[in-house]
Amino acid sequence: MESRAFGATGLGVPVIGLGTWQVFDIGLERQETADDVVSASFEAGTRMVDSSPMYGRAEQTLGKAISGERDDTIVATKIWANSAEQARVQFESQMGFFDDRVDIEQVHNLVAWRSHLDWMEEEQERGRIGLLGATHYNPSAFDELEKVMRSGRVQAIQIPYNPVERDAEQRILPLAQELGLGVIAMRPLGAGSLVAGPLPDDLRMLGFISRADALLKWCLSDARIHVAIPATSKVEHARGNAAAGSGPWPDDPLRRRIASLLS
Ligand SMILES: NC(=O)c1ccc[n+]([C@@H]2O[C@H](COP(=O)([O-])OP(=O)(O)OC[C@H]3O[C@@H](n4cnc5c(N)ncnc54)[C@H](OP(=O)(O)O)[C@@H]3O)[C@@H](O)[C@H]2O)c1
Repeated sequence: MESRAFGATGLGVPVIGLGTWQVFDIGLERQETADDVVSASFEAGTRMVDSSPMYGRAEQTLGKAISGERDDTIVATKIWANSAEQARVQFESQMGFFDDRVDIEQVHNLVAWRSHLDWMEEEQERGRIGLLGATHYNPSAFDELEKVMRSGRVQAIQIPYNPVERDAEQRILPLAQELGLGVIAMRPLGAGSLVAGPLPDDLRMLGFISRADALLKWCLSDARIHVAIPATSKVEHARGNAAAGSGPWPDDPLRRRIASLLS
């Protein structure tokens, strides 16, 4: 389903993005690895990236890796700070990393979200932020996430979504759909736990090329999810993941089959 919020960013839907947790927290001497992952991803069609100040050097690494392609990249990152003052420092660093603009600025894990929305909205008006969002990795925080969503002050959310983490299906995804919010799925490969092992023959015969391919198609075939952001440190994975972002999409019976074989 076309997202009302993401429609404005030019993101076609559904879309594979590139996560950066752990894999982009690397020293300058390994910058080339990140450059290659980004190039492979972009050549295969990805245009959206996700990071956070919580991920060590990841934002810095990412900023360098996309620098030649900034105008064509949707940069999602986060604010992870206990106060507006601390957040401002993070934001100014991001202005340096990402050429004076963050396309989707999310409150990471809802940390002190009430302290951030005022200044984030001011930056949105100034044009240094595109859309506002909020993330949480833990379903125990979904009541609070629901409050943020209902505040009408965010246009996007980021939640875990894969065949073993489906809590968002209960209230968060229906609410996001009702409110027209963009939805980014974190951990689409279960932080790597769901891609271990061979691809079951049943799925290979149905045309899937890898477990990651089946999982990403499973994720994006829920019409309420607009972007899935697998993280990788490997060029061949980046290429394969990006390629999973086009149909044909599994229908409900096939989604159930994928979930039962890959959970
Ligand atoms: N609270 C939050 O806001 C929050 C929390 C968690 C995550 N996130 C975001 O969501 C992103 C994704 O989540 P995640 O990184 O936790 O987990 P994930 O994307 O589900 O899994 C990443 C793992 O899968 C492996 N992998 C990737 N592609 C593969 C492929 N084609 N075949 C085999 N293995 C593959 C990667 O290892 P290789 O390097 O070997 O490919 C990596 O270990 C994060 O990077 C971050 O941007 C946000």
